[in-house]
Amino acid sequence: MNLDSTRLERQKRHLFRLKQKGVIRKTIYVHEDCAPYLDRLKKHLISSESAPLLLNLTEKLERNKPVNVAQVKQLSPFRYPGGKTWLVPEIRQILRSLGKRPKIFIEPFAGGAIVGLTIAAENLADKIILAELDIGVAAVWKTILMNSERLCQRILTFPINMETVISELSKKYKDINELAFQTLLRNRTQHGGILAPGASLIKKGENGKGISSRWYPETLVRRIRIINILRQKIDFIEGDGFAIINKYFKKPNIFFYIDPPYTAGGKNSGKRLYAHNEINHKHLFDLMATVSGDFVMSYNDSKEVRELAGEHKFRIATIPMKNTHHEVMNELLIMKQ
Ligand SMILES: C[S@@+](CC[C@H](N)C(=O)[O-])C[C@H]1O[C@@H](n2cnc3c(N)ncnc32)[C@H](O)[C@@H]1O
Repeated sequence: MNLDSTRLERQKRHLFRLKQKGVIRKTIYVHEDCAPYLDRLKKHLISSESAPLLLNLTEKLERNKPVNVAQVKQLSPFRYPGGKTWLVPEIRQILRSLGKRPKIFIEPFAGGAIVGLTIAAENLADKIILAELDIGVAAVWKTILMNSERLCQRILTFPINMETVISELSKKYKDINELAFQTLLRNRTQHGGILAPGASLIKKGENGKGISSRWYPETLVRRIRIINILRQKIDFIEGDGFAIINKYFKKPNIFFYIDPPYTAGGKNSGKRLYAHNEINHKHLFDLMATVSGDFVMSYNDSKEVRELAGEHKFRIATIPMKNTHHEVMNELLIMKQ
């Protein structure tokens, strides 16, 4: 062995010993202006004791910039109007800050259920309960969680064009599988994913792809199969979200994520987007004031919502959020004190 190979061997052994201690080698690119700060951080980066502190710091930095919808991983087969993909990192952070793992995570107004699905996929609670009143949306969840393969084959083989979509959506469905398929097709071919009566079909779509511009069969099937794998963790209930909250409101170690249609203070967006949009918001706030578990409610930022939260001395966090039109707007997260 010559001197170079001896040195190389020694270096390999050194790296191996470091790896055993959890220190790994990473190559990163740093802007020259930031290099001095990285040098100062180096000793903390190899110490496992500094990890919680660094995590805390990066999360604080993350929270100060608007969440970009496009950057968060998607698990739901729906493109749900009012969907909360952007909220996933916040909910993760809130659960972590509680310092205890919820036994049951409940999403009583499930819609596209992206938050509940992420909690299931990341195993952040023992059980996830989703509830939804809309019969079509409910058919999708029930089918995916029970027997998803027929739905997957239907998605993969559907010859999509304007005529086939119109013909399929005008048919009276014969069973829950057909209703599930029609609901997903409607969700992915109508403007904004809107399922409420009156929504119209996409005509131009993205990149001139027209009616098929949001129909990605392989992606949908991949998501459906992942959710089906998680079925042991997820219970779906077709019914009223209020009844589910009432059923679990005194049980210990429950976490509720409440995302009702935005109709508080006469807001119309919820009315236009969902067939079921009649919500007694005052009753919902009163009910949440009585639950033993923890909760987060997401709402549009309005005077009425702030007043309802104030009445029960709930904590309000304002979240800047970039929507798909790249406008920054505020949403409210409402929690127990
Ligand atoms: C804002 S959306 C939920 C969106 C969901 N968080 C997501 O990320 O896709 C509200 C949902 O509540 C449903 N809904 C309305 N009233 C309900 C009720 N009383 N019980 C259960 N679900 C209800 C609507 O059909 C709609 O799907």
